[in-house]
Amino acid sequence: MLSDLEGFHRHPFGAHAPGADAGGLATRGPLLRYPVAIALLAAPLLSLAVSGCGGMPRQGIARGADLYDTCRPCHGDKAAGNPELGAPPIAGLPRWYIEAQLGKFRSGQRGTSPADVEGHRMRPMARSLNIEGDVGSVAQYVASLPVRTASATLQGGNATAGAASYGGVCTVCHGADGMGNEAMGAPPLVHESDWYILRALDKFKSHVRGYDSTDAQGQQMATMSSTLQDHQAMLDVIAYIRTLRK
Ligand code: HEC
Ligand code: HEC
Repeated sequence: MLSDLEGFHRHPFGAHAPGADAGGLATRGPLLRYPVAIALLAAPLLSLAVSGCGGMPRQGIARGADLYDTCRPCHGDKAAGNPELGAPPIAGLPRWYIEAQLGKFRSGQRGTSPADVEGHRMRPMARSLNIEGDVGSVAQYVASLPVRTASATLQGGNATAGAASYGGVCTVCHGADGMGNEAMGAPPLVHESDWYILRALDKFKSHVRGYDSTDAQGQQMATMSSTLQDHQAMLDVIAYIRTLRK
């Protein structure tokens, strides 16, 4: 950025300005130089936020693609996630679910529990989507990306045991095919990373997620997580969910 500014100072266009002396803008004081350079640099940034059309904020998938630049450092170029940062794959999740979760992070229904290290990482990002329509635009963009099926990182799950608990409980909302159900607010689980599912189940069970009395769906899921007795039961159901991949 600094070197860009210096480039501006040396640029010859200043020499043609009325009344400019031989050295152009470079010989003027900083009071004149910086506002010109800053205005020139800021113009394209402003036009990202505001389109020409009546000054209304730009919306839709192109705006979403621009906004995704702020998500990239954690969720990755292809939105395939980054286990080291605890950021899950989000590519191809349904738009309604992405919007709902961004809304929860923004309102504090998710990500405010003191024990929620990853939620604390994500929450400011959701809150940075300040311009009306931005939550919808970034959700639309992420939903349009091809699903990346995450590879297995967990061992020791028994898919047969997991089938019993999945079929008895989870299937009601997440579907027999694990593809989720919008009417229930239940997201698809099939392509999600196993480490993230495990952590999500732990969080629901310990009320690090689904803690807010105004978050009916989060609370419902927190209740359901208590049907999984222990860590092994979670590994089992995750092993079963994996078998649902086509
Ligand atoms: C600083 C790192 C970081 C950045 C940047 C970031 N996220 Fe996240 N995001 C996370 C982490 C960590 C989680 C997991 C939270 C948890 O475990 O509950 C997460 C979770 C999510 C979830 C919930 C997924 C689910 O299955 O419930 C969505 C949706 C999401 N992020 C979207 C975004 C979008 C859109 C952006 C850009 C505007 C973004 N994130 C930027 C770290 C980040
Ligand atoms: C009564 C409906 C219902 C049942 C039954 C249910 N869930 Fe959920 N589940 C939900 C809802 C709703 C959400 C989204 C919660 C939110 O909005 O934060 C969810 C979220 C999840 C998540 C987090 C996904 C993500 O991307 O962050 C996981 C993992 C999960 N459920 C696993 C299970 C498992 C395993 C079972 C069976 C033991 C189960 N669910 C049973 C409704 C249900």
